[in-house]
Amino acid sequence: MSNKAVTVLDLQRMKQQGTRITMLTAYDATFARLVDQAGVDMILVGDSLGMVVQGHKNTLPVTIEQMAYHGAAVARSTERAHVVVDMPFLSYHVTDEEAVRNAGHLVQNGAHSVKLEGGAERATTINAIVRAQIPVMGHIGLTPQSVHAQGGFKVQGRGDDAGQRLLEDALAVQEAGAYSLVLEGIPLELATKISEALSIPTIGIGAGNGCDGQVLVIYDLLGLDDAFKPKFVKRYASLAGVVRDSIGTYIDEVRSGAFPDADHSFHSKRPVAPPAEGDAVDAPEGDRVPYGPTDLTH
Ligand code: KIV
Repeated sequence: MSNKAVTVLDLQRMKQQGTRITMLTAYDATFARLVDQAGVDMILVGDSLGMVVQGHKNTLPVTIEQMAYHGAAVARSTERAHVVVDMPFLSYHVTDEEAVRNAGHLVQNGAHSVKLEGGAERATTINAIVRAQIPVMGHIGLTPQSVHAQGGFKVQGRGDDAGQRLLEDALAVQEAGAYSLVLEGIPLELATKISEALSIPTIGIGAGNGCDGQVLVIYDLLGLDDAFKPKFVKRYASLAGVVRDSIGTYIDEVRSGAFPDADHSFHSKRPVAPPAEGDAVDAPEGDRVPYGPTDLTH
């Protein structure tokens, strides 16, 4: 794996060469660094942050400023992965001019490309953003910003007519200039057919293994919410218990006085004489307050 930053051209080349693309979400600097170091090709700063970071029931309350804030934190901590930032609800629905301005705002905050939801009905908007030299990733199928219109978070494209409409949406998004397309919550057979029909890479979530790549929400992959386990999620770890147990041990040790022990405390390098009257009160070097400019490792 090369250390070179992944571009939209690399992603298109990966589709042509049949190399599967990996994408995960991240919303902050710490996770972005870990995901990037692990070698993922793309990081999505998804508006799913409305649910998993902000605690909302859906993604609708998320604002463009919040996406810019999280996008900037992720972009600052990423060296190799291509960083895609979601355009939130109402940031691209009113006018194409506003959509271009909002997409540009995300790019000025570090996004390498933006993602927006919708098919043929978003083609002119996608094209306007692409003409402003901003790469766009499309997103069709189960589109979370349409939660009310779709009657909940439900699998889409079941049945011939619905499947045909999604295929036409995919072609319209590609024709509008998108460089890739997320397929969410659709049958494996339909996702495979769409992926074969398109020249741009498709990235699936709940869409089976016929897509050109896959994306998951990082907290789902790590098993950080043990109450949430939809069919399409595979947990590669069960960290919720590890986190709770670690915090439980910390609570016990603080209460018992076992933490902090001598190894986790600063020590005077020389005996501190009590200040004489009139002396400046200054702690010896190495014993200054935490988060000051001193070396805090010993
Ligand atoms: O917001 C998000 O995390 C997404 C993925 C689920 C594709 O859009």
